[in-house]
Amino acid sequence: MLRRLAQSEPSRARAPVLSDCVCAAERTPSDERTMTRVDESRAGGRTVALARPGGGWRWLAAVVLLAGAAGCNSDDASPATSEADSTAGPSDALTYFRDVKPILDAKCVQCHQVGSVGPFDFTDPDTVFELREAVVAAVSSRSMPPWPPAQDCTEYLGDRSLSSEQIDVIAAWVEEGGELGDPAQEGEALPEAPTYGLSRSDHTLEMESPYVPTAAPDDYRCFVIDWPEAESSFVTGLRFNAGEPRLVHHAIAYVTGPENADAIEALENADAQGGYDCFGGPEVPAGWLGVWVPGAVGGDFPVDTGVRVEPGSKVVLQIHYAANPSGWVDQTSIEVSTEAQVEREAWIQPWMDPAWFAPEGLTIPAGDPAMRVSTALDPVFFIGDSEPLTVHTAGLHMHLLGSQGRLSIERADGSEECLLDIPDWDFYWQGAYALAEPRELQLGDRIRIECQWDNTAENQPIIDGAAVTPADTVWGEGTLDEMCLGAFYLSK
Ligand code: HEC
Repeated sequence: MLRRLAQSEPSRARAPVLSDCVCAAERTPSDERTMTRVDESRAGGRTVALARPGGGWRWLAAVVLLAGAAGCNSDDASPATSEADSTAGPSDALTYFRDVKPILDAKCVQCHQVGSVGPFDFTDPDTVFELREAVVAAVSSRSMPPWPPAQDCTEYLGDRSLSSEQIDVIAAWVEEGGELGDPAQEGEALPEAPTYGLSRSDHTLEMESPYVPTAAPDDYRCFVIDWPEAESSFVTGLRFNAGEPRLVHHAIAYVTGPENADAIEALENADAQGGYDCFGGPEVPAGWLGVWVPGAVGGDFPVDTGVRVEPGSKVVLQIHYAANPSGWVDQTSIEVSTEAQVEREAWIQPWMDPAWFAPEGLTIPAGDPAMRVSTALDPVFFIGDSEPLTVHTAGLHMHLLGSQGRLSIERADGSEECLLDIPDWDFYWQGAYALAEPRELQLGDRIRIECQWDNTAENQPIIDGAAVTPADTVWGEGTLDEMCLGAFYLSK
């Protein structure tokens, strides 16, 4: 739905924000406000609709270039000119090659290069120079790199956020005129550039045939793929390759044992198209293998752990498609790595209060700016036995009205440990966050999940060019329903 909007209305809401800050020469104290506005506009559904695939970002380059041509004075000329004008010695001025490139290489270009998820090729110095004001706005507001967790909660592997010092370097470089400097004097690469993705792919499991979603506003479809291994084994990493990223709203890979093969076949035969309709889940008992939501990158599971899969199992890909007025075709696949043995067996554990999805269990009243739920649950409730557990990753899922969310451990002794805190929920940048230090759960420890929603007129998604009118909203899988769902990768 939102993506359809991105097609038809690529340029609302953000154009004024960025045209405020395109000229280096015009940086004033009001920059603070500009950045705040960038932030605010991202928090609502409006920006979400703009930022998605379908060309929503393309206007940005146009605005930046146009504004540069029309409004900026000579300070905005080529880097060579500003270098010549500079009175400071070359060693004093910050340069792209020495000071900025190492930061972008470590924190940006993984997404911002040809063929990757983000617009613009930031491996190209001229592109960085041309877009430097937009870069400053994006990093200062911390909208880029996308990294929603609060800085003071806990540490994660692959944290792609920038330090305040790195933000200051980029801002100062632009302020000083954006000198490129000498390529021969390139700064040292930053250590531990975060890596994403799957280090090895053993199997590609693809939907058997292409699918054209037709149901509106949402199409939930399950696709069945035979598990290829003949022995019991463990999945140690998984990556989703969305066939048509403009259509795929979320995807969950389930695995179901051979005992459910007949039931699955009956479901598949219900209609003539590939797969079967499946709202909410695969309709047979199944565990989770992985979840793809916008912003997730997927990749290796925590070292020495894996999710067991028996031979004869079926992988069921549940895909939630957005409305498809353009008749796009999807054929999504997953890639997995496997091992015959792992040190610790793991699984993905959804976490929510079952009371929330009982009828009338959760209602977010129309107009409520800060409706909040909070509940602490004992793992025994989900897992049924009482062995100590290790929490490796933590993720949180809400829909478009979400404004904040938090997951924490409440120890039996009353102390509290933050696992994940999302102070400014952004539906399009969700993910599972790998804890730098996995946490042990002992008997009596509980995990608290908290969610907050903003159901005022200011925080509604835009559909067909108009903001949705706030309405009482309940738990459900539809885009306009809401959820408060934790997901943990746990091992014993
Ligand atoms: C994980 C992938 C990813 C990383 C890492 C990343 N970006 Fe982005 N960036 C995107 C995507 C995707 C978009 C398109 C807009 C959106 O979806 O929010 C984007 C958009 C932008 C924009 C356009 C304006 C905006 O805010 O949408 C700028 C500028 C930008 N990125 C700069 C950067 C810089 C600078 C870095 C590194 C410091 C960076 N990005 C790191 C994925 C990424």
